Amino acid sequence: MNSEQFTKRYYIDRRKNDSVKWQRGIKMNCLPMWIADMDFKPEERVIDALKTFIEKGDYGYVNLPKDYYQVFTDFHERRHKIRYEQEWIRFTKGAIDAMYQIIYSLTEENDGILIAAPAYPPFYSTVKESGRKLFVTDMIDNDGYFTFDYKDIEKKFSKGKTRMFMLCSPHNPLGRVFKKGELEELFELCRKYDVLVCADEVHADIVLPDQEFLPALSFEKYRRNIVSISAVAKTFSLAVFSHCHVIIPNASLRRKFIAYQRHTHTGSVNVANALSTYYCFKYGDEWLDALNNVIDENYAYFRKELSPYLKMTSLEGTYLLFVDLGPYAEGSTAFETLIKECQILANAGESFAPGYETWARINLATSMANIRKAVRSLKKFIKEKQAV
Ligand SMILES: Cc1ncc(COP(=O)(O)O)c(C=O)c1O
Repeated sequence: MNSEQFTKRYYIDRRKNDSVKWQRGIKMNCLPMWIADMDFKPEERVIDALKTFIEKGDYGYVNLPKDYYQVFTDFHERRHKIRYEQEWIRFTKGAIDAMYQIIYSLTEENDGILIAAPAYPPFYSTVKESGRKLFVTDMIDNDGYFTFDYKDIEKKFSKGKTRMFMLCSPHNPLGRVFKKGELEELFELCRKYDVLVCADEVHADIVLPDQEFLPALSFEKYRRNIVSISAVAKTFSLAVFSHCHVIIPNASLRRKFIAYQRHTHTGSVNVANALSTYYCFKYGDEWLDALNNVIDENYAYFRKELSPYLKMTSLEGTYLLFVDLGPYAEGSTAFETLIKECQILANAGESFAPGYETWARINLATSMANIRKAVRSLKKFIKEKQAV
């Protein structure tokens, strides 16, 4: 299935729906390219299977499908060459919920937690709201290709107050799919300073064709120090069926996590939501490969047309492109400029870290027609600015 066929089959006109992304866009008279969800529906067999479940009308207490774990592990083995054991897996209702539960169960009040900025805003808020101390290391910007500052990370770890590192891999908003050596160096530092790694891997499946996502838990040497957050809500755009896995191979950490879930009654699974994930695991591969090509082509087009004028991240994974409007955002922020001058609603750069006011995060998970529209209005604006 090529990208045109995929778009024809799966693009949804969400203007008529209660889509958060589109309703806000319409209200602001903008093309919505903010918030991380897609304008595509899942593969037909997923929708049919969900319909069958709904039509049965049995909405009492039901079990997960017997082969849920098998289907889960097969998917990860197929796509990421990793085999998770059933007993490592716990459920939460979403990734942010998972972050809170991991922080509350595996760290203590006033423990330090390090995040790498710019970062997805809940990385800041989960740490702060849970009464932990927030430490921040800035990623190094190599002309749009961001890398960890290991010296700074080690400096922060060596003060001895950091208990956890919140890793976002692949990285939102920087679009990085980290290489083996980069993760090894990070995990080695975490091991050296006895810092746990919480790896948010919800963007794991959106990787551009020449990239390979490496799950944190595939680094066996460091496994005992790592918990990961794994979901396909981003992969298949299932936000409405929020369902997430926390994977904890270390038995002693897992016991703490389970004790927390028992204490707070948060460990039970929403089966209807889990079913949508289950059907995507079963039927989603071809759809997902085609989607990754769509993102790749959207990115390639955006980059070809606009990189002569704008700095942007080198997208390796996620469908979220971080773009620097630089001088074109003069006197305003990129977020405001895009709304006012280009009728594009993006996410504000400064919401990911202070100092990124001229940046904005643009969601590319839409039709090529929408990408072209955005590129046209950006180019028009840039040309007008240049003419002044
Ligand atoms: C890195 C990352 N983690 C977590 C989430 C939120 O996930 P959930 O809706 O499952 O809480 C997002 C959403 O954009 C995200 O990008």
